[in-house]
Amino acid sequence: MNALREKIAAHTARVGIVGLGYVGLPLAVEFAQAGFHVVGIDVQASKVDRLNAGESYIQDIPTSVVAALIREKKLEATTDFSAIRDLDTIDICVPTPLRKTKDPDMSYIVSACEEIAKYFTPGKLVILESTTYPGTTDELVLPMLAKNGLKVGEDFFLCFSPERVDPGNPKYQTKNIPKVVGGVTAACTEMGALFYQQALEHVVPVSSTSAAEMAKLLENTFRMINIGLVNELAMMCDRMGINVWEVIDAAATKPFGFMPFYPGPGLGGHCIPIDPFYLSWKTKQAGIEARFIELAGYINGQMPHFVVDKIQGALNEQAKPVKGSHVHVLGVAYKRNIDDVRESPALDVILLLRKLGAKVTYSDPFVPSIRLDADNLTASPVDSSVGEADCVVVITDHADFDYDAIHAKAKLIVDTRNAYRGRKSDKIVLL
Ligand SMILES: NC(=O)c1ccc[n+]([C@@H]2O[C@H](COP(=O)([O-])OP(=O)(O)OC[C@H]3O[C@@H](n4cnc5c(N)ncnc54)[C@H](O)[C@@H]3O)[C@@H](O)[C@H]2O)c1
Repeated sequence: MNALREKIAAHTARVGIVGLGYVGLPLAVEFAQAGFHVVGIDVQASKVDRLNAGESYIQDIPTSVVAALIREKKLEATTDFSAIRDLDTIDICVPTPLRKTKDPDMSYIVSACEEIAKYFTPGKLVILESTTYPGTTDELVLPMLAKNGLKVGEDFFLCFSPERVDPGNPKYQTKNIPKVVGGVTAACTEMGALFYQQALEHVVPVSSTSAAEMAKLLENTFRMINIGLVNELAMMCDRMGINVWEVIDAAATKPFGFMPFYPGPGLGGHCIPIDPFYLSWKTKQAGIEARFIELAGYINGQMPHFVVDKIQGALNEQAKPVKGSHVHVLGVAYKRNIDDVRESPALDVILLLRKLGAKVTYSDPFVPSIRLDADNLTASPVDSSVGEADCVVVITDHADFDYDAIHAKAKLIVDTRNAYRGRKSDKIVLL
């Protein structure tokens, strides 16, 4: 235990990151920049090759940063799990999606842990970072590592530490987002906290892995339910002829006890639409129905349909049936100023419009093409498409769009993000 502690404090510990995606790569970069030797392990050879060639594939990490760390031999990547043998710490940052049935898909964690277990030796610190249900670290990961009589808290250390990275956020990134960490034993928590303190600004130890797992699910469930609330409010306001955006802005002037959330075309990304269902799945086993989660999930799932109804209604007003109309979508990423389309509601809106017989094009400065059911759709230039379309719909309000120029050219705009905040125009239909 002392040997590992000393290596961590001296920054001579060899740090391993398993899964080099939106979470793993920024974490690897932070530890490499703090002076550790970092080995990234991923099953995708293309990512490993790009990193070793000094290239970043994550928008928030500049290629120049990766290139310098590779050159200085602070960072290396591999697909070979035997590298685990020589590592002192291992952070697991693999995907945790949902199955079609909305049950947790633990296959990535299981397969990463199986590989780690093959090369596992005493004296290591393992930290699970993938978002998951409370109990995963103790019930699933621990038995896979505690084979051959190794004792957790003595022979090795195991923690859960939720990742809170917010891609595209210029103010808060891996280094300055407080890091919660909870270990299987007090010694594990202490080792995990010591590790993160070497590279990150603020570490928050908690008493157990389950508390750390649950804290992450509370954060994301809080967002999902509040977004569900304002999405329902948007549908109510629409029925009553009230501007929901004005209502939220007015309520947000209350200096205490209120936090604004905004409606939109539906939830997207790898976290908010997914993580709460990890919690509802687990609580079902304890005989508790997570009713807020189910309800918010239902309401948020209705939003792409509501947007399509809005588009249909706006076109009807102009005596144009949606069938045969040209709808141009602005933004397909799941949120502004990023390139990630996972679970993006834009994809649902496009598919629904196509089903109704509309011709759909899109522009997105970050996303050159998207995969839709059986075919690929390529982005088209904003300038020409906006003028040609019968209706332009703002799904993702990227800062790069020239909203004035778009307004000048468009015949009709359905704005699902309040991108035209405060502008009075007969052409604009708000969510
Ligand atoms: N993206 C975010 O903003 C964010 C924020 C907070 C938490 N999280 C959570 O962090 C975890 C990782 O998310 P992400 O967005 O980085 O995913 P990602 O898909 O961007 O990256 C995951 C990486 O893991 C690799 N991988 C898959 N199976 C592997 C295995 N068995 N061994 C080694 N590598 C493997 C993949 O090839 C991929 O490169 C998820 O649990 C997610 O919910 C994500």
